Amino acid sequence: MNTQSLIDVARKMVADDRGLLAMDESTSTCNKRFAGSGIPQTEEARRAYRELIVTTPGLGESISGAILYDETIRQQTKDGTPFVKVITDAGIIPGIKVDIGAKDMAGHPGERITEGLDGLRARLKEYFQMGARFAKWRAVFALGDGIPSRGCIEANAQALARYAALCQEAGLVPVVEPEVLMDGGHTLERCRAVTEDVLWTVFNQLYTQRVAMEALILKPNMVLPGSTCPDQGTVDEVADATVRCLLRAVPAAVPGITFLSGGQSAQLASARLNAMNVRFRSRLPWALSFSFGRAIQQPALEIWHGDRSRASAAQQALAHRARCNRAARRGDYNETMEKT
Ligand code: G3H
Repeated sequence: MNTQSLIDVARKMVADDRGLLAMDESTSTCNKRFAGSGIPQTEEARRAYRELIVTTPGLGESISGAILYDETIRQQTKDGTPFVKVITDAGIIPGIKVDIGAKDMAGHPGERITEGLDGLRARLKEYFQMGARFAKWRAVFALGDGIPSRGCIEANAQALARYAALCQEAGLVPVVEPEVLMDGGHTLERCRAVTEDVLWTVFNQLYTQRVAMEALILKPNMVLPGSTCPDQGTVDEVADATVRCLLRAVPAAVPGITFLSGGQSAQLASARLNAMNVRFRSRLPWALSFSFGRAIQQPALEIWHGDRSRASAAQQALAHRARCNRAARRGDYNETMEKT
């Protein structure tokens, strides 16, 4: 492992106010989103949609890295150019999702454990040879009566740390994604307390597994009230709760924090990231950035609808969201950007 080159990649992933584009939906998740929009759930439709994304003009101005899925990293454009080459030529670092999903956890009703450690060393080697320079692993924590349990938090944190150690050994920057889900009626304060507990446990495990903090990216949830909580809080309240929580739990050596969007609307995700940077940027030890999936892609997917004639309009919507989020990193995002 060459730690300095990992550090260089990690820093590049959050440099120049750019952020990550998550386009790593598994086949079943992608099909579910397509079904919701009446798009055929075929390999060719998924390939065409991913081609639309990676060939979006100007994408590299706002996007530093793209997280791909196993199917996607092996695909090509219609004219035979590998997606990895298209991405790299656009100045975007290719990354890959390497967990194989969250499965029901034995003895822990309502909770899930992320799998994928078996054989991971060999898979990471192959992805590195294919051009990937970072990898992602997501653990999920549902909130409810008595959950998340200690058992679920600790098992997922240990898996995240073992994955991160294997990534660094293979020359890939780990993107460590512990996601406290927003489903439910819990308060902002409950989400803050659970997120803090999860992050403390994850960083404790990362330390135990000898993961270099300077060479990883954290991809957490924002601290949000549950989606059915009557008090949704203001944008500033969410920004304050999120940054306070991160300041307590994330070591200053970590170069960047790139939020997932988790089901927030595209505009709200941009507004909340913007508020964090407006209010705190000058006194934060790490870059606060984005690694959105739905909050970047959803408007484009809705326009595209599987229709080739709408590809260019969909690309414009995608580039627009990427630009809004880049502006949010600088604290320059505002509603008038949505009207242009
Ligand atoms: O693992 C989830 C994705 O990387 C982020 O997707 O922004 O839609 O939550 P999201």
